[in-house]
Amino acid sequence: MLKLENITVRFSGLVAVDNLSMEVGEKTIHSLIGPNGAGKTTVFNAISGLVKHDGRVILDGKDITHVPVHKRVYHGLGRSFQNIIIFKYMTVLQNLMLGYHSRLNYNHLDEVMHTSRFSLEERKARLRAIEVADLLGIKSILGVYAGTLPYGFQKLIDVGRALMTEPKILLLDEPAAGLTEKESDILKERIIKIKDKGITVFLIEHDMRMVLDISDRITVINFGKKIAEGSAQEVINNEEVIKAYLGSGTATAQ
Ligand SMILES: Nc1ncnc2c1ncn2[C@@H]1O[C@H](COP(=O)(O)OP(=O)(O)OP(=O)(O)O)[C@@H](O)[C@H]1O
Ligand SMILES: [Mg+2]
Repeated sequence: MLKLENITVRFSGLVAVDNLSMEVGEKTIHSLIGPNGAGKTTVFNAISGLVKHDGRVILDGKDITHVPVHKRVYHGLGRSFQNIIIFKYMTVLQNLMLGYHSRLNYNHLDEVMHTSRFSLEERKARLRAIEVADLLGIKSILGVYAGTLPYGFQKLIDVGRALMTEPKILLLDEPAAGLTEKESDILKERIIKIKDKGITVFLIEHDMRMVLDISDRITVINFGKKIAEGSAQEVINNEEVIKAYLGSGTATAQ
């Protein structure tokens, strides 16, 4: 579903991603892990077109390296960010509908005049939001103001917004950060549901329990370079990986 070919990202003197090539298989959960500052978010930024890079990004067989950021969504790319943005004074439904915005097929005149095209698109967005909420198990709180919900739910809304555009691949950057163990378990189960819907999930996560439980495949990077790749078992027994994690003092790969 996604193929990265020789991706290199430089920030002035620093090489944040160093000649990374990898593939994410269709309808899998593939995790990208590594110590703090390893370059994981930068890989996602390269895929989304937010940073300049060398190399190529191929999505579902199509080279999107030069496709502008806002158009990548039409090629099936969905993304949630490391720092979530939730509109606290909007309902869950409204927050979700915002995610549909990039697909909305009407102009400002339609909006002002409330043309039939506008209402049709609004209706579609609403239906999609209900579908997404159903998938994530948050249908019963669609009318609730997002700001009043616990952090775990806000995280689900953020993931839901990325699902609104019906992506082929969903990039999730540390979705479990700040969640309680229980919230994290719920999220884990919902990510598996997303995969079961046929959506490929590319996941960055420090929560090793989640990573080892749900990943079909794991890629490990350190200082921007791939140091290991394989199943959970293969990766946790890899010496390079153990060294990288012990050296960083952030998490342990066991
Ligand atoms: N816009 C930027 N300008 C300069 N340096 C940057 C920029 N973004 C990231 N970096 C640097 O690139 C390196 C990789 O950062 P990145 O955020 O990709 O790491 P990460 O693996 O996502 O880390 P974490 O697990 O802490 O989220 C770090 O050294 C970081 O300081
Ligand atoms: Mg990061």
